[in-house]
Amino acid sequence: MKKTAVYPGTFDPITNGHLDVIRRGAEIFDNLIVLVAIRKEKHTLFNLEERLELVKCATKDIPNVQVATLDKLLVEYLKENKIRFVLRGLRAVSDFDYEFQMALTNSTLYPEMETVFVMSSRKYIFLSSSLVREIASYEGDVSGFVPGCVIKKLKKKVIR
Ligand code: COA
Repeated sequence: MKKTAVYPGTFDPITNGHLDVIRRGAEIFDNLIVLVAIRKEKHTLFNLEERLELVKCATKDIPNVQVATLDKLLVEYLKENKIRFVLRGLRAVSDFDYEFQMALTNSTLYPEMETVFVMSSRKYIFLSSSLVREIASYEGDVSGFVPGCVIKKLKKKVIR
């Protein structure tokens, strides 16, 4: 049976660290759906359509990756689409508390689900979207941190 997983996140914007997790997840699972979350409670630099477009652009060369919107509880999406696996990346010990809390909450709401963690590659262990946004806001060089299509959009946003 084919195994499908989702990789949920805000992706404001998608970074090379996220992309590294996506590439590795795409090798583990037959299909990987990157879920771009709406996040009503979080002010984002890029709106939902922009974040979706950037994830699509960054992952277009990975054939078993699809991109979709997450506009509900993650467990509801999983149940509706009959998906059991959630992929998450762990960068450092500091990620663990948050990820542990989220994985346990989700599995309490939907016991059939399983969160699968991959460790971020050493190269991107320090990276975060907020760091990228901050560097871009000072017109710093983000080319080593984000995919090509994100660089252009970030520049436009910051100049505006
Ligand atoms: N490389 C680089 N950065 C990474 C990373 C990696 N491998 N893994 C995480 N990050 C960074 C992100 O850039 C982001 O940084 P920022 O806070 O500086 O912007 C931060 O870590 C967390 O981002 P992300 O992994 O995208 O997760 P999130 O916390 O934004 O997403 C959801 C959380 C969307 C998965 C979660 O809120 C959710 O499932 N929402 C749906 C509603 C729901 O079901 N809620 C109940 C959850 S129990």
